[in-house]
Amino acid sequence: MRVLGIETSCDETGIAIYDTDQGLIADALHSQIDVHVEYGGVVPELASRDHIRKTLVLIEQVLADSGLNKSDIDGVAYTSGPGLMGALMVGACLGRALGYGWNVPAIGVHHMEGHLLAPMLEENPPEFPFVALLVSGGHSQLVDVKGIGQYTVIGESVDDAAGEAFDKVAKMLDLDYPGGPHVAKLAESGDPLRFKFPRPMTDRPGLDFSFSGLKTFTLNLVHKYTVDGPLPSTQDMADIAAGFQLAVVDTVAIKCRRALEQTGYTRLVMAGGVSANKELRRKLATLKADVFYARPDLCTDNGAMIAYAGAQRLLAGQHDSLSVVTKPRWPMGELEAID
Ligand code: KG4
Ligand code: ZN
Repeated sequence: MRVLGIETSCDETGIAIYDTDQGLIADALHSQIDVHVEYGGVVPELASRDHIRKTLVLIEQVLADSGLNKSDIDGVAYTSGPGLMGALMVGACLGRALGYGWNVPAIGVHHMEGHLLAPMLEENPPEFPFVALLVSGGHSQLVDVKGIGQYTVIGESVDDAAGEAFDKVAKMLDLDYPGGPHVAKLAESGDPLRFKFPRPMTDRPGLDFSFSGLKTFTLNLVHKYTVDGPLPSTQDMADIAAGFQLAVVDTVAIKCRRALEQTGYTRLVMAGGVSANKELRRKLATLKADVFYARPDLCTDNGAMIAYAGAQRLLAGQHDSLSVVTKPRWPMGELEAID
């Protein structure tokens, strides 16, 4: 079965074709960074308009890249939530309409299920059950995964998501949006131990995270070390970035270790944009578990993960009705299980 995947939940237009026999056969991405960078974050209306401009172009591109015709597509999968309402509407309306026009089933996919299953696209995919660490711009969650659609959230952020904290700290350090990769780059030349950042919520039991205190701690440091100009010295900034990153990584690693102990599982899957972070990967590799993650391009938003997740559900006979449904808020626990 060949499935066209459409991802438009936020600021990337991702389109891909996944073949359940051959694997990923085409994958195209258009990033909207240039559209939003001058505003320092995603402007929802600009995001929707840019998705409208790019979706059809990229669909034609993946068909051409794979040498396929639209009649070779057996199903369509689109992100129907969570995400920005207008942005979701673009992919969902188009995906649902293409399914109807091509006379093939169409299905709305949960964006975080897409992230969670992305490591399945790699060569050595994890077997169930496993603990999933989902760390993106909008979510930080630990999930007990028993199978596709069998998700129990066992821990989550009580305030900012990990990626959101990276993005806000980047702003304090005058780095461009999206901040995660820029903070990580700056941290490479910093001393992570110079400042004693807190490790929030690690001194009490439980699997929830909190990142807003780290943000405040960072802001205070930035003010303290700003002497003449608008910002601290380059070295001070690098040390702040490195200290912040290590605090996030340590905190997340402590919670992952606890989640593994609590569930008794031996596999840990990390997914979502922040799972591209090299320090986080390095740290999680020290846990007593087999750790799985996707290549960096499949950690951040992409169409391949939506095509893959949709294909699993379509194969199991699930599909949407003709109405277009988008769910800007959509708890993972509500998803239907695949037997
Ligand atoms: O999963 P994603 O592409 O989009 C959402 O679903 O939110 O995640 C984007 C987030 C952004 O906050 C970005 O700053 C962060 O992932 N990110 C990183 C890295 N690459 C992306 N954070 C830390 N280190 C990275 N290398
Ligand atoms: Zn995402």
